[in-house]
Amino acid sequence: MDIDLTEISVLLGQKNSGKSVLFEHLLTQTERYVCLDPNGEHGPPGAVFAESPTEVLFNWMEGETQIIVRDMPLTEDKLVQYLRAFGQLQRAYLYIDEVHNWMSSHYIPDVLKDLIKWHVTHNNCGIVVAAHKAKEIHDQIWTQTDNFFIFSYGEHEDAKMSEVSIPDKGRVHDLDPESYQFLYYKDVAGASSQIRGPVPIPRHLK
Ligand SMILES: Nc1ncnc2c1ncn2[C@@H]1O[C@H](COP(=O)(O)OP(=O)(O)O)[C@@H](O)[C@H]1O
Ligand SMILES: [Mg+2]
Repeated sequence: MDIDLTEISVLLGQKNSGKSVLFEHLLTQTERYVCLDPNGEHGPPGAVFAESPTEVLFNWMEGETQIIVRDMPLTEDKLVQYLRAFGQLQRAYLYIDEVHNWMSSHYIPDVLKDLIKWHVTHNNCGIVVAAHKAKEIHDQIWTQTDNFFIFSYGEHEDAKMSEVSIPDKGRVHDLDPESYQFLYYKDVAGASSQIRGPVPIPRHLK
């Protein structure tokens, strides 16, 4: 999987389908990131933990460019502060697990909207988010998603998932939740989708 800076990636799937494990797997392959980790699940070797936005910036200036934010509960007020801090970084990936905590199809924090609008194209940053369903992803992100990772989705496909055009999307319904496999699709001209995974569980999680 190649995820470029400036790209937006969305991981979807029902509970326990394997999103956070893939998310962690992707983190182990990323050199520069800030990861918002509301459930305290993440932290590859080499990462440092930050408990305030100031600590994020301080660490970054010290050359620590793999940063996990552990600041619970991560309220929207705090999220906004972290996003502002992230907005000052260059060539960095923003990872947000359980992004539905702060977003829905009809709501997205303004700072996140602005980050996506401007930062992605101007400042070279990548965004990776995980949620359960497409309907939890605001259109500001959904309509600009470059990489889709869709795990076992559960019974009901929401309208947002039904409308998105992904070749052979129906194969998602054949995925066994316990296979931890997912449909991967990069939205570029002529691309096809692929069933991928399961990724190896990162060693530090075992
Ligand atoms: N790639 C994988 N290989 C083996 N087991 C996995 C894999 N991904 C997930 N699991 C198992 O499923 C559990 C739930 O996975 P997780 O990624 O936390 O799900 P989600 O974030 O979608 O709720 C993990 O704790 C692990 O036991
Ligand atoms: Mg998870």
